[in-house]
Amino acid sequence: MKNIAILCSGGDVSGMNPALKHFVEYSLQKLLTPFFIYDGYEGLIDNNIKEVAYKDVAGIINRGGTKIGSSRSQRFMEKSYRNIAKKNLDMLNINMLIVLGGDGSFRGLDVFYKEHGVKFCGIPSTIDNDISLTEYCLGVDSALNIIKTSIDSIRDTASSFKRAFVIETMGRDCGFLALVSALTSGAELCLIPEKEYNLKSLEESFKNQIKNGRRYFIAIVAEGIKDDSQTIANWFEQKIGMQARVSVLGHIQRGGNPTIYDRLMAYRFVNNAIDALLEGKKDGVICYTKDGFKYKNIDEVVNTPFVLDPELLKFLKNI
Ligand code: F6P
Repeated sequence: MKNIAILCSGGDVSGMNPALKHFVEYSLQKLLTPFFIYDGYEGLIDNNIKEVAYKDVAGIINRGGTKIGSSRSQRFMEKSYRNIAKKNLDMLNINMLIVLGGDGSFRGLDVFYKEHGVKFCGIPSTIDNDISLTEYCLGVDSALNIIKTSIDSIRDTASSFKRAFVIETMGRDCGFLALVSALTSGAELCLIPEKEYNLKSLEESFKNQIKNGRRYFIAIVAEGIKDDSQTIANWFEQKIGMQARVSVLGHIQRGGNPTIYDRLMAYRFVNNAIDALLEGKKDGVICYTKDGFKYKNIDEVVNTPFVLDPELLKFLKNI
């Protein structure tokens, strides 16, 4: 039997638990012995690695977060700790690794592979949806649905009070969550880091809208824009003449029950990752595009600059 391990690194996403469940099921089906590495690269260094069976993944498919923990490991950036990690894997005869994480996690893995030759396959998992060459990262659909529900609730109170609401989404330097949420919630304004904006140029139009009967504004802003959300709210109060409030959605966006789409994508990503390793692939990431799932070499993924889908960006002209 060959040994295979999985770990989660970086921000957790809803969809990791379904992925862990299917990792165990599909590994056993392929006659592999599955192991969990707890708390990300920290657990790899601290030898927090355990063989697992079906019973370990019972009842987790509907849960957000990750049963095996995650971390943003500073120690894994140091060679001496990566050497310890390699020794821990050797002791358990593990030579195949699956990592659920984002761009930063994959960069660390790339270095680890080049130093020690441990075969790995990454599964893009971040609500930011900011990994090059894949159109979808696990957890994005669940996050978008939470944002949608939050905006729908805030709209009720915005309309009752004649208020502007500035709703801040996560995404680090990427505006994907904000843009898609603004579009699909019919927001009046969307500000993202990928697009320069000039609030002054909007003032006349916004004031006219109020004259014509508009009772509220919903503005969706990404956390990575140049201004903080309170500055945008102040602009509504001082320049547009409408009382404004800020709602920072924060970590609520990362948790919660995974959507059907994320559960299914978790299964599909895991199948592709395990198959790639069994076919002899050594250092890559499973990417998803409209042509389906494709294995891409890690260098290609981490060295291709990320760009937000230009087709989506075109919609910004209207918001
Ligand atoms: O990368 C995922 C993410 O949720 C970002 O959107 C956000 O900026 C960051 O993680 C928050 O990190 P932490 O949970 O460490 O505060």
